[in-house]
Amino acid sequence: MSTKYLYINTIGCQMNVYDSEQIERRLEPLEYKPTSSIEKADLIIANTCAIREKAEQKVFSFLGRVADLKRKKPDLILGVGGCVAQQEGSRMLQRVPYLDLVFGTHAISRLPAMIERIEAKKCRIVDVGMHEGIDESVFGIDADYTSRVTSFVTIMQGCDNFCTYCVVPFVRGREASRTPEEILNEIRGLVASGIKEVTLLGQNVNSFGKKEGLCSFPELLSLINRIDGLLRIRFTTSHPKDLSDELINSFKSPDKLCRHIHLPVQSGSDRVLKRMNRKYSRDHYLSRLDKLRKACPDIAISSDFIVGFPGETSEDFKETLGLIKTVQYDDIFAFKYSDRPNVPSAHFRDKVSEQDKKDRLIELLKLQEYYTEKSNNALVGSVEPVLVEGLSKRQSGGGRENINIQWSGRTSTNKIVNFIQSDKSRFCKEIFPGRMIDIKIEKALSHSLRGTSDLSV
Ligand code: SAH
Ligand code: SF4
Ligand code: F3S
Repeated sequence: MSTKYLYINTIGCQMNVYDSEQIERRLEPLEYKPTSSIEKADLIIANTCAIREKAEQKVFSFLGRVADLKRKKPDLILGVGGCVAQQEGSRMLQRVPYLDLVFGTHAISRLPAMIERIEAKKCRIVDVGMHEGIDESVFGIDADYTSRVTSFVTIMQGCDNFCTYCVVPFVRGREASRTPEEILNEIRGLVASGIKEVTLLGQNVNSFGKKEGLCSFPELLSLINRIDGLLRIRFTTSHPKDLSDELINSFKSPDKLCRHIHLPVQSGSDRVLKRMNRKYSRDHYLSRLDKLRKACPDIAISSDFIVGFPGETSEDFKETLGLIKTVQYDDIFAFKYSDRPNVPSAHFRDKVSEQDKKDRLIELLKLQEYYTEKSNNALVGSVEPVLVEGLSKRQSGGGRENINIQWSGRTSTNKIVNFIQSDKSRFCKEIFPGRMIDIKIEKALSHSLRGTSDLSV
């Protein structure tokens, strides 16, 4: 069999990034090699996201761009996977006549067989079947990661929370957890191939293992903590209603657990939280944060916000701004509310106008800018352990000729640090990524920090 090339366009959250790696791994036995050149590809896959309308549009504009390639190269196979595929199913084939394959979020293990059938018979396939529980055969990264330092590891699939605005429970199915043994094995394998940091993924990691009667999430963290050679553990996402004292206590003596928590609040108004079906109040949320900060005073806190949820008044929005002022987040992600097919809030009355959503988003982000800068500035002058991930974007590809090589990594609190290694003669690309080194923070920029190291490699 001759080598064929696979091009994947990954849209959406970390789960999709992880899934795309699984797709690459599963197609290796079919002699598909990943490529970053779309022109070279024999198989193009779009791994898609349905969380907001804008994300969904991305796949259709991408497929539009691929149409030309498909005309020039009739044997080219074009597939769509992920959350839009799950949501739309066979409607995608009608909408995109040159599409060969639609596979849902639970169909990754069947992907190689489908590709073989398409190669042999030139047929079109839709597989959006879903199953209960975990299909362990889709997990496990064993690719060659010698140049990588960090990796995602999915520990749970699906979601049972049914926030009224959200498609995830529909496109990812019911919540299900992998076993600790499988997770530990995967991480040990990753560490053996050079990974130093893992980010554990789940829509609500706090309910890990509950359904299946496995260990608790904090217990899983302490098992992972014992893996030799692993330097750092992160996780996302924790739901505020389920953030337990046990998990908060894990931050008391964090060891490998990074001092950062992403705790999406969505809104600062109890009225809106109720209509979102978030199942916590503003007070409950704030008391959890108090406890977290008592357990780990310098923990970094980030969050997600939705502005312009149906029925959100300017008073409600002011409460959200007030919450941001009270909490003083290190960083946030904020989105304009977007109607999604089949979710309850799509039928809610009092939709907020596009202009109001836009204005609120700008106001919220502007307010947060002040706190992001404040938290970044607070680190200037300190020395922070940074796990080096690679050359910084600005300098990658610059090569040895650069007088100053700029590296990039993150602090335990998840802040990006770019730093210069000033002594050119010691430049050693092979050794640097994956090392934890002390960096003197010299300058705070709006989304990153700048520092220096006089490390001898
Ligand atoms: N499971 C995670 C969130 C996953 S979705 C959690 O509950 O925290 C990531 C973010 O997308 C959400 O936190 C929310 O802020 C945003 N989001 C989800 N549905 C949305 C919608 N319909 N419109 C706008 N933003 C949305
Ligand atoms: Fe969506 Fe809510 Fe589940 Fe998060 S917890 S994935 S926002 S339904
Ligand atoms: Fe992730 Fe988007 Fe699906 S946020 S779970 S890829 S809808």
